[in-house]
Amino acid sequence: QKLEMELDSIEKGGYEHFMLKEIFEQPRSILDSMRGRLELVAGHLNMGGIRAYERKFMNADRIIIVACGTSWHAGLVAEYLLEDLARIPVEVEYASEFRYRNPVITERDIVIAISQSGETADTLAAIELAKSKGATIFGICNVVGSSIARATDAGAYTHAGPEIGVASTKAFTAQVTVLTILAMIVGHKRGTLSDTRLQELMVELGSIPAKVEKALLLNDEIELIAETFKDVPNFLYLGRGYNFPVALEGALKLKEISYIHAEGYPAAEMKHGPIALIDENMPVVVIATKDSSYEKVVSNIQEVKARKGRIIAVVTEGDTVIPPMAEFVIEVPATSEVLVPLVSVVPLQLLSYHIAVLRGCNVDQPRNLAKSVTVE
Ligand code: AGP
Repeated sequence: QKLEMELDSIEKGGYEHFMLKEIFEQPRSILDSMRGRLELVAGHLNMGGIRAYERKFMNADRIIIVACGTSWHAGLVAEYLLEDLARIPVEVEYASEFRYRNPVITERDIVIAISQSGETADTLAAIELAKSKGATIFGICNVVGSSIARATDAGAYTHAGPEIGVASTKAFTAQVTVLTILAMIVGHKRGTLSDTRLQELMVELGSIPAKVEKALLLNDEIELIAETFKDVPNFLYLGRGYNFPVALEGALKLKEISYIHAEGYPAAEMKHGPIALIDENMPVVVIATKDSSYEKVVSNIQEVKARKGRIIAVVTEGDTVIPPMAEFVIEVPATSEVLVPLVSVVPLQLLSYHIAVLRGCNVDQPRNLAKSVTVE
């Protein structure tokens, strides 16, 4: 019994749960996903997987991203990245919807399939469908040799290492890292991302592991916030731009492991419905880092406040405007707008983790869920 417990603890690297271990591994897993790709000294980016398909990417009419769950959220971040940096129109599709419609796909389309496990049945079926219509399939997988990795024409692995917790954490940030590098390479090749901007972004990307490390120092503070909210029945998560997918991801994390109902919403959409939910009992997590939509998010915070919602704000270090409006403030290091999800998602992962632990939930193996969904 004692030996078993010791083995268990060794496996978890001394952490209480795999999920916490994996959240804390992110500075490393992000770095590993950049290794060999981000060459700061030489001043260039590499991605073996796209070399043979560079022309395809240059001439692509459209990129369609297919994925499920958290990987779909990484796909949404990629939509912002690819449209912003490479100016290619992107559609992000739930694999399960895409495969059962009659989607318009041509040989000039590139389909990017994102999957941690590489075994998700719907994502695999979406790939097969796109392949049959002649599209080029690019995979972003974590598990080497997995079914999806084998079904694609080319791809790039995330080097997150094994992810055991059912709630995906380090796989998400690794996927976003790889997709960022991909968007930067394609943007630069297409001439939509200038040399100077590329160099700036490369330097900033290189500093992300240290910034994530810093965000992890918020752990104790977030545990206290979790104490306050552990018994609430609902949560709302709001974000705009690059932080919109982060809001969705924060809400998904909370519902899957704590069984609290949570909704992620683009902050501006709130007034078209969800604002009706807000009263003095509703916690609203607003991701409000300093970026191009900052002023707009501040107005959204005011709207929530006017209805007495309880605001938990994720802000950029040094923000003095939002703290007086919020019940709790979580400060994350500043970074470029296009890289912000890599940092802003970390406190949300920690918040869901601590709430779930305090509610006595089985964090690593939540009810009704499997690590990879191999059924349709
Ligand atoms: C995330 O926390 C989930 N458990 C789930 O949504 C997951 O991301 C989804 O099933 C996709 O899995 P994949 O990345 O292995 O394809």
